[in-house]
This record gives sequence, structure tokens and C-alpha cells, in this order.
Amino acid sequence: MDYTVQNFSFKLKKTIRYLKLYGVGRTIVKIMGQYHMKKEYAVLPANHVTTIPKQHVGIIGCGNFSFSNIAFYLKKNYGNVIKAAMDVNVHRAASLFEKYNAAYFTTNAEEVFTDKTIDLIYVASNHASHAPYAIRALEEGKSVHIEKPNAVNIEQLVNLCNAMQSSKGKVRLGFNRPESKLGKIIIGALNNETGAAMLNWFVAGHEIEKEHWYFASDEGGRILGNLCHWTDLIYRMTPEEKYPIKIIPSRAEKSDCDISVSMIFGDGTIATINFSAKGHTFEGVRETLNAHKGNTLIELKDFQYLRIDTVEKVRKHNLLHRDHGHEIAVKKSYEMHMLDDNAADVSYVWNTGYLVLKIKEALEKNEKVIVESFEKSFPQERVNTK
Ligand SMILES: NC(=O)c1ccc[n+]([C@@H]2O[C@H](COP(=O)([O-])OP(=O)(O)OC[C@H]3O[C@@H](n4cnc5c(N)ncnc54)[C@H](O)[C@@H]3O)[C@@H](O)[C@H]2O)c1
Repeated sequence: MDYTVQNFSFKLKKTIRYLKLYGVGRTIVKIMGQYHMKKEYAVLPANHVTTIPKQHVGIIGCGNFSFSNIAFYLKKNYGNVIKAAMDVNVHRAASLFEKYNAAYFTTNAEEVFTDKTIDLIYVASNHASHAPYAIRALEEGKSVHIEKPNAVNIEQLVNLCNAMQSSKGKVRLGFNRPESKLGKIIIGALNNETGAAMLNWFVAGHEIEKEHWYFASDEGGRILGNLCHWTDLIYRMTPEEKYPIKIIPSRAEKSDCDISVSMIFGDGTIATINFSAKGHTFEGVRETLNAHKGNTLIELKDFQYLRIDTVEKVRKHNLLHRDHGHEIAVKKSYEMHMLDDNAADVSYVWNTGYLVLKIKEALEKNEKVIVESFEKSFPQERVNTK
């Protein structure tokens, strides 16, 4: 929904609700992000005017998420570290450049990849371009934060994993929920128990209009664009003995909206995601988790409220604002590079990407699919020997 064209009363109600949900700073930047998306300069701002030595980060894809999350949290935590703002839409590149005091804006990604002063790139463009851009960054020895999904097909995923193995650059994926305050508590509570778990997600996806680029044939639709958040989270919530994973799809007409998918893991854990995408969800994506493992019962609502019962003990967490882990995810990627910490390993990048691609396949064919781990599923003949 384009909020900028709604009537005053709607805008006011939305602002008040978002102030409660996200606090003042994020609400303001989210509103600014809406206008950033529509910005059209009559005359573009002066480019390449000032550079400060601190600037060493490139942003590829200057849309809403880069503007209101990546650049916002980089500036908040590290100051003016963004050197280059790149987008195929010059107005968005220029608008992010202006707001976050970058050194230059460009529509040419090669300018960023070959800039020797840039050593870390955040990729948040259209889904089909994530892996190719990340591979180019790795070829230049740069570290890269890849927004979800990390690949839209197996070919891209193989190439990305190969590039990781032959580059000094490091990689982190933009899955933020496991890094969130409540996400970490849940993973800790599940890890304290033994045996198989039951994990049950209900997700009401935010409204995305039919003509949105998410639905273009090579972009992967909502399974790769949205469901990957919860498939990755489930992957991170399950113990070592995950494989083989049996995927059982349930769908009606569509293969990526209003679907249910179950996964049976090697240790007997059963995880289900019910993904409903119907009308407008005023508060954005809504999500609940009910989980049970050993003596622990978990109830999570919208990454704001969490209750954990372990026999007679009850722990409740009621956050002032929703925390999906966006800030910590942006910071961890920065620290991965600066402090040589938190980098993803190739088996994780493969396993999480492969799992969601196989879920997509299961839903499209409406058939069960078995998924094996990196060791068994990565095509060995394709291992990069460079
Ligand atoms: N981690 C999260 O919670 C989260 C939330 C929202 C979006 N995202 C991800 O962030 C990315 C951007 O999403 P968004 O909501 O900002 O979308 P958006 O449509 O607002 O922005 C995408 C931007 O990419 C630009 N672009 C398109 N093709 C390009 C190309 N080939 N090269 C460079 N730029 C190109 C577009 O012009 C646009 O400005 C997506 O990958 C999305 O999945 C992540």
C-alpha cells in the first residue's frame, strides 16, 4: 500500500500505531522511507563532492529497506561510514546518498566493486541480483552482507558457495529474527531441552500488490522473498541432527501465498509454517510461534511478547517495542568485517538457501521432497578448485 497517498486520518492512525510498535526514531525513518521511494529530483545533487577517510561501505539497492534499516542503523552505530549508494534508480541512489552523507551515488555497480576504498558491501536490491552482486563483491575480496534470499535458484547458490570458498571476503546473510532479543532467548530455551520439538508458526504476510517485483518470474515470489525468514529461523532452532528433512506441502490454488508447509527433521522434530497472505495487515507482518520441546512450552507473539513455561517456572518477556533483530543484524555484518567475527560458513549458506529452494519446489509440484545436508547435496563436481 502506498501510504503517502492515504487520507490524513489513515496516516495519523498508522503513525500512532507505529510509534507504539517501533518507537519514535524508527517511525520517523519509516515515514521518510515512504517519501524516499517516490523522490524525483529536478536536478540531481552534486556528486563526489566530499570524502572522509571513515567511509568504506557500499550499499547496492537503495530501496525502502536500505534507507530505513541498513543505512539508518549504520549511521546510528558507526557514523557516516557509507561511501557509495548504488541503485538502478538514480533518484533513490541520490536520495540515500544525501540523507546519509555518502561520498557518491551511482547507477553502475562496477564503480562500487572496483572502488579500492570500499571493503564491505550491503546487497539489498531485487532478489535475482543478490547472488550475482555478492559474487562480484567476493571476487574483489570484499565482505558482503546479503539480504534475504541469498539465491533464487540452485545455480546461483552453487556459484555463491564457490565464490565464498575462493575469496578472502566474508559473508553474512540478512536473516535478522534469530539475532533478535526474543529469538536468541527462544533458541537458548530450546537448546536446553533434549528430544524432538514441535514448532508451529502462523504468519500473516503483509500485503504486496500483484504487480510488485517480488512476483516477477525470476525473482522467486513470496517463498524466497518472505517465507525464507521462517525457514531459516526453523533451521536455526533445530539441533545438529536435522537431516534428512522431509518437506510436506499443503496448498490450494497458489504455490506461494496461503500455503502451509511441514518439515520433519532427522531427529523427529516437526515444524510447520502456515503462511496467510490475504488483505491488508495494518501493523505489517504478524507472526506467532507455539513450540514444545522437553519440559518447555513457548508462546511468541510478533517478537514483542514471549512466554516460556518450564514445568512450574514461567518466564515472560514483554518488550516496549517489537524487535525483529534488524539493528543487530546490520551491526553483526559490520562487525564481521571490522572485528573478523560472526561470518557465515559455506555449509550454512548452502543449507538455508537449499532448504527454502526445496520448499519452493515442493509447493510448486505439490509433492513431498527430501532434503539432504551440504555434505550430501552440494554438487561435488561443481566444487571450486580455483
Ligand atoms: N531482512 C528483512 O527483514 C527485510 C525486510 C524487507 C526487505 N528485505 C530485503 O531487502 C531487499 C530490498 O527490499 P526493499 O523492501 O527495500 O525493496 P524496494 O523495492 O523498496 O527496494 C529495492 C531497490 O532495489 C533497486 N534495484 C532493482 N534492481 C536492481 C539492480 N539490478 N541493481 C541495483 N538496484 C536494483 C530498486 O530500484 C529499488 O530501489 C530485498 O532483498 C528484500 O527481500 C529484507
